[in-house]
Amino acid sequence: MSEKTIERPGTGPQEGAEENRPPAECPAHAKGAPAKGEAQAAPASEAPAACPVDHGALAHEPSLKPVVAVTGASRGIGHAIVRKFYDENWEVYTLSRTPFSHVCPWAEGYVRHIEVNLSDDRSIQYAIDQLRERVGEKGLTALINNAGISPKNDEGGRLSAMGTPLKIWQDVHMVNFIAPALLVQGLKDALLRGNGSVVNITSIAGSRIHPFAGAAYATSKAALSALTRELAHELAASGIRVNAVAPGEILTSILSPGTDEVVEREVPMRRIGDPKEVAEVVHFLCSGASSYVIGAEINIDGGQHL
Ligand SMILES: NC(=O)c1ccc[n+]([C@@H]2O[C@H](COP(=O)([O-])OP(=O)(O)OC[C@H]3O[C@@H](n4cnc5c(N)ncnc54)[C@H](OP(=O)(O)O)[C@@H]3O)[C@@H](O)[C@H]2O)c1
Repeated sequence: MSEKTIERPGTGPQEGAEENRPPAECPAHAKGAPAKGEAQAAPASEAPAACPVDHGALAHEPSLKPVVAVTGASRGIGHAIVRKFYDENWEVYTLSRTPFSHVCPWAEGYVRHIEVNLSDDRSIQYAIDQLRERVGEKGLTALINNAGISPKNDEGGRLSAMGTPLKIWQDVHMVNFIAPALLVQGLKDALLRGNGSVVNITSIAGSRIHPFAGAAYATSKAALSALTRELAHELAASGIRVNAVAPGEILTSILSPGTDEVVEREVPMRRIGDPKEVAEVVHFLCSGASSYVIGAEINIDGGQHL
């Protein structure tokens, strides 16, 4: 990244990078954290010995807070969304493959994390069952379909439509498009009870050729945009609002080397986006301030779509 040419969001040149990084002391995010499938944090029923919080009690603590569930919450944009909603005093449920760490920013998060693999329909159903049970009668005020994958070819480059194997087509479409559809289907009752809204995280790559995002990714995001329109129309009368945001180049680990040049060439604001700038718009779309907004897809890209 050329610091000379690309201005970071915020006041200092490294601010975006710092904010994108989860808390340094959090082992689930730290370098050297156990790989998936290896021994991990204690199960949700066992609080860590040193922790003074009664996690079991917190799980059942009645609260009047609005409730949000965020997929892909372990890092990047999802992590920023979690922090924003937590700061706004929401009850936050997090979903990702990575287990929650007991030293992550808030103690009750420990019992509000659900490990899920969104490329597996049985795991998705398990997460739906867990969420429905945990939110109970209160229901869901918001569901954020944020998790996404963007696989590259063996050289780290763009996967073409001709060069994408079946398994990658299936995995990418499952995580990026079908999982959000199944989650909305499975959580519709909870969303109805919570007078809820849904925000899907699409991408600029869903509507134009992108130098790094491959064909499977682009088509999955185009499908997610169309799904947003379908669901918004279908659920409008029920009171569930469905919208999307389409980020451009946002500073997370999903970016490819060479993003600097794309930003210089294609982004009129000539800087990369901060995950917090996505989180702010997502929060707006889940708030009463956007009560008459449905089926919208808001570009968050410094003008890249222009
Ligand atoms: N960053 C950008 O410039 C940009 C631009 C346009 C759109 N987007 C979209 O924004 C969303 C967030 O992207 P990001 O940049 O924050 O990406 P990221 O840093 O790579 O984070 C992706 C998140 O998705 C989760 N995830 C991936 N595969 C999963 C699976 N099979 N099951 C459950 N969770 C899974 C990951 O958690 P685990 O690994 O713990 O499971 C992680 O929390 C994605 O939908 C992406 O397509 C990003």
